[in-house]
Amino acid sequence: MKTKNTRRAFIKKSALAGMAIPILGSSLIACKSKNEKEILDASFNKLKILILGGTSFLGPHQIAYALKRGHSVTTFTRGKTLPSVHAELFDQVEQLIGDREDNLKALENRKWDVVIDNSGHKSEWTKATANLLKDNADIYMYTSSTGVYYPYLTDNIKEDKKLVLSMPEGLTEDEQYEQKYGVMKGNSELEAIKAFGDKRTIIVRPTYMIGPADKTDRFIHWPIRLSKGGEVLVPGTPEDLVQYIDVRDVAEWFIRLAENNQYGTYNAVGPKEKQNMNGFITEAEKTFNIEHNFVWIDNYDFLVENKVYFSVPWIPSFGKNYGTARVSNSKAINSGLTLRPIKETVKDTYDWWTSESISDERRSKYETNPDNLIVKEAEMLKIWKSAKFNTKVEKN
Ligand SMILES: NC(=O)c1ccc[n+]([C@@H]2O[C@H](COP(=O)([O-])OP(=O)(O)OC[C@H]3O[C@@H](n4cnc5c(N)ncnc54)[C@H](OP(=O)(O)O)[C@@H]3O)[C@@H](O)[C@H]2O)c1
Repeated sequence: MKTKNTRRAFIKKSALAGMAIPILGSSLIACKSKNEKEILDASFNKLKILILGGTSFLGPHQIAYALKRGHSVTTFTRGKTLPSVHAELFDQVEQLIGDREDNLKALENRKWDVVIDNSGHKSEWTKATANLLKDNADIYMYTSSTGVYYPYLTDNIKEDKKLVLSMPEGLTEDEQYEQKYGVMKGNSELEAIKAFGDKRTIIVRPTYMIGPADKTDRFIHWPIRLSKGGEVLVPGTPEDLVQYIDVRDVAEWFIRLAENNQYGTYNAVGPKEKQNMNGFITEAEKTFNIEHNFVWIDNYDFLVENKVYFSVPWIPSFGKNYGTARVSNSKAINSGLTLRPIKETVKDTYDWWTSESISDERRSKYETNPDNLIVKEAEMLKIWKSAKFNTKVEKN
């Protein structure tokens, strides 16, 4: 089957569509508990953490967890992106302003224990900050991506897989987009290691992150749709494999890796056990106490004709995307990654989406956009039920 779009093209589109999300309500902010007190009494060193970025999706969750554990945090951004979750914590954060493109002055002559590089969008950026900070910080943590494994041609993809570090010839436009991201992330990892050495560098490669404050809108379909019940279109086959991770599981693990100086490279991938689309939807539907009737649309040509290329966590795993949901998490799990149940992610994401933190305009824009599955679903189901389309097409 030929898909017209690819995973990264989808992400790009989604990212372009995604605007800054208003502040998250306080319901998701941990209140003081016995558990929190134990954390504050814990024996690990209190760290001075610098986050390059920190105000977008992953960063605010890292900040919330780091502060809860008694660390201090500095962010470095252009001052353009406003934190959309945990905004009220930012008065406890030192906020440095500059630009990774050409102004790192605010980072000069300062010392930190840990640098977390979330905003690494060019390998040159990572080279510059890693070199600038190598004598003034102990550990450099680089937020990479499982995108470094593109093309995903194998099963059980582990951290030691050889990466593609330069652009091959002869790729289609969509393939180039995916490959470019992987090559950039792979080279950025190397720049971090070159400056800090492999015993002072921690590389984390997350798969699709989902959860509150996701500006891409690529997962919100499922919380919204499952909350409504009734006949639900599910793309793909029940056996299609899925992988995803709650952004908070990534964020919290980052801080624990830093506390324990667990240098090395890790995939950050959930769920713990292998899951297929049927497993995902069966667990996710339990979030809401409402009946669902799932209608599987396993004709990939029909989906593409209707411009349903992806619906995270469902990503068609053909050709160069075969292994996209076949990334190993065993090293991560053995190194302390914990994974919350999908029900919790769906619930918190739904609560965030329906809270005052999201403007009516933003919600309405998403829920009335004719390109979104939520809008196309009823019409697609009507057509699908006519015998003409209801035949399975072989994948190739
Ligand atoms: N989302 C996913 O599913 C996923 C999966 C795998 C890996 N990742 C990786 O995870 C990381 C974190 O993602 P994210 O969505 O939280 O953040 P992000 O959107 O990649 O980064 C945004 C942050 O970087 C800052 N920034 C952007 N341009 C800058 C510049 N020129 N100079 C200084 N700061 C700049 C922004 O603040 P200002 O705009 O104010 O400058 C903001 O704080 C990224 O590296 C991403 O590639 C994401």
